[in-house]
Amino acid sequence: MSRKHLGSLDVGAFMRTHWQRKPLLVRAAFADFRDPLSPAEVMRLAGRDEAQSRLIMGRGKRWSLEHGPIGASRFKQLPSRDWTVLVQDTNHFCRAADRLLDHFDFVPHARIDDVMVSYAVPGGSVGPHVDSYDVFLLQGRGRRRWQISSQTNRDFLPGMPLKILGRFEPEHEWELEAGDMLYLPPGVAHHGVAQTPCLTWSVGFRAPSDGEWVTGFLDYLREAPAPGGHYADPGGAPARHPGAIPPRMLDHAARTLGRIRWTPSMVREFTGRYLTEPKAHVFFDPPARPLAPARFAAAARRRGIELDGRSRFAFSGAVFFMNGEAQALDTGARPAATRLADRRRIEAGSAAPDSFWDAAYGWYLQGFVVLGGGPT
Ligand code: SIN
Ligand code: CO
Repeated sequence: MSRKHLGSLDVGAFMRTHWQRKPLLVRAAFADFRDPLSPAEVMRLAGRDEAQSRLIMGRGKRWSLEHGPIGASRFKQLPSRDWTVLVQDTNHFCRAADRLLDHFDFVPHARIDDVMVSYAVPGGSVGPHVDSYDVFLLQGRGRRRWQISSQTNRDFLPGMPLKILGRFEPEHEWELEAGDMLYLPPGVAHHGVAQTPCLTWSVGFRAPSDGEWVTGFLDYLREAPAPGGHYADPGGAPARHPGAIPPRMLDHAARTLGRIRWTPSMVREFTGRYLTEPKAHVFFDPPARPLAPARFAAAARRRGIELDGRSRFAFSGAVFFMNGEAQALDTGARPAATRLADRRRIEAGSAAPDSFWDAAYGWYLQGFVVLGGGPT
């Protein structure tokens, strides 16, 4: 399948040659691109408690960072140059930003981090830096100059509140305008400077580090029932060094820990739960006056349902993972649940068995899914 926003590449060729490997610039990736939010709306969002925002000011070797919420009065004090405000997770708050993700569904949803937006005035930038994420930098209104470098020098400017490269040696440079897009794999140094007031949408993809994976799995194993045995030392010799840990105790510890076992299905359950776990600051809004189950099912059939922008929903085999919880669904419910996981919505008028609508009702009560925008 070819997609306009990857230029002349089809998604297969993009995944083979560029994804995680090398940058790609696509001119006019999105024809007639419309920003999901205007600069004024971005600044209003930056003032909300539940949105994570940052204000970055500076250039060269002097930078400052303020964490949000950033209120309207703060914006009024700012100069006309050299600042940027960034808001994470715009897909949680804005349906149109969430829908941007649909264009990238050739990447598994489990890899999605967020859609971040930056609004910058001329000269505004976050400084030259390196990310550990894959990112599609989609240019909204205004113009931004991007420079990139394959440099391996990662020394940061000392004493800065941000990780800014001390020496940046650009090798390529482009000026992006509305609808242009730059894909960067992890590890490519980059620096984007607003040439005019501009919005940039960063569609970011992540994966846990191996360290996070292990720590998460050890946490998960803690939920397993503890073994029932206990260390005992009948017939032990009198201690010559009462301060020393007896080797017998160490042997016991090694044997007990060596009995920790896990199965592939535990790894699957952990991974599904871990990858769909909402970020720590995310809270859902259950419906204030929920419909009764039968009315929900009728409305859902008529209007369809959508995942709330904050929801993470994935499956592996017959197990479905909604926002960190595993749920086995019966065979009849699985095709609709699979569609919901793939497309993040079930179209109005779609057929699905009662067992699926029962599960969907549970998600609706928790604010994980909402009724679609079809006929009311
Ligand atoms: C920006 O939008 O200014 C920063 C995005 C990035 O470099 O990752
Ligand atoms: Co970056």
